[in-house]
Amino acid sequence: MNAGMSEGINEGMNEGFDAGIDDGTADRTSDGTADHRPGRPAGPIVDLQLDRAHSSRIYDYFLGGKTNFLADRMAAGSVLSVFPSALIAARINREFMHRATRALVKAGMRQFLDIGTGIPTPPNLHDIAQGIAPDARIVYTDNDPIVLAHAAALLLSTPEGRTAYVQSDVNDPEAILAAPQLRHTLDLREPVALSLNALMHFVTDDGRDRAHAIVDTLKSALPSGSTLAMTHATPDFGPGTMEKIVEIYRGAGTVLQFRSRGEFLRFFDGWELLAPGVALPHQWRPDRPEDATYVADAEAGCYAAVARKP
Ligand SMILES: C[S@@+](CC[C@H](N)C(=O)[O-])C[C@H]1O[C@@H](n2cnc3c(N)ncnc32)[C@H](O)[C@@H]1O
Repeated sequence: MNAGMSEGINEGMNEGFDAGIDDGTADRTSDGTADHRPGRPAGPIVDLQLDRAHSSRIYDYFLGGKTNFLADRMAAGSVLSVFPSALIAARINREFMHRATRALVKAGMRQFLDIGTGIPTPPNLHDIAQGIAPDARIVYTDNDPIVLAHAAALLLSTPEGRTAYVQSDVNDPEAILAAPQLRHTLDLREPVALSLNALMHFVTDDGRDRAHAIVDTLKSALPSGSTLAMTHATPDFGPGTMEKIVEIYRGAGTVLQFRSRGEFLRFFDGWELLAPGVALPHQWRPDRPEDATYVADAEAGCYAAVARKP
């Protein structure tokens, strides 16, 4: 980070960003609201729901992060017992984001919308994008309150660029698109690089094709030249294992729907896939040829692709 970076913190940040975080230990006044005496948490109380596992925190554990709690580590342990390559799968998923972002910035993209961004894990998307193009603008969103609590790391923009965070649920794409923080940061008349990495498998269809409808809504709001980068877990290489993972998450309170190659491909309908098309995450434009071969398909369990709107 350069010394001037904090100057670029977006003024349109989420109101809730300054919220005091309630891990159950915050002092309360007699009416149950937060205690606002000096030294006490300010702003509304945020319930971090530490008693149950969350996908962002399980993923953080797989990536070797520290923002995970007992419930998350227990769920992660169960996943590892049936899918020992979860650590590798998480890493190659994250590294796909690094390479796809680099490729898109080099191709001229300057506006990014990263939905389901996850707990900040350096390098974050803006670190990569602004490292190449300091004027890049990035909007992050997630629905986990712990990502909001750590959003400061995502808001350290360059002075030339801008970053913002929107606490929101991808199940309400119109609300994301209408968020003031997004509108202050991105110009939706210009191309936007949308990323939905390891997100849409947390949206179940329930017989209504909801996940594709959500992605279609987001795609429709973006102009020609916009891009969609996406990864998505699949049962194609190990259906039995992936079914066990679905069961573990369901037991921990999170529903999942893994999708086939054909279902993944359908998210990009009407847009042009960039080379190499649908790939395993580590095989999408690897930095070194040997990076494409060190993980077996079943260990990755995930597809990746980037497409451009004609
Ligand atoms: C596996 S992590 C992926 C993080 C990051 N995109 C990456 O690939 O490195 C999935 C993220 O999606 C978020 N998420 C899950 N369901 C969501 C929803 N309905 N709306 C918004 N975010 C969601 C989780 O909180 C978590 O941070």
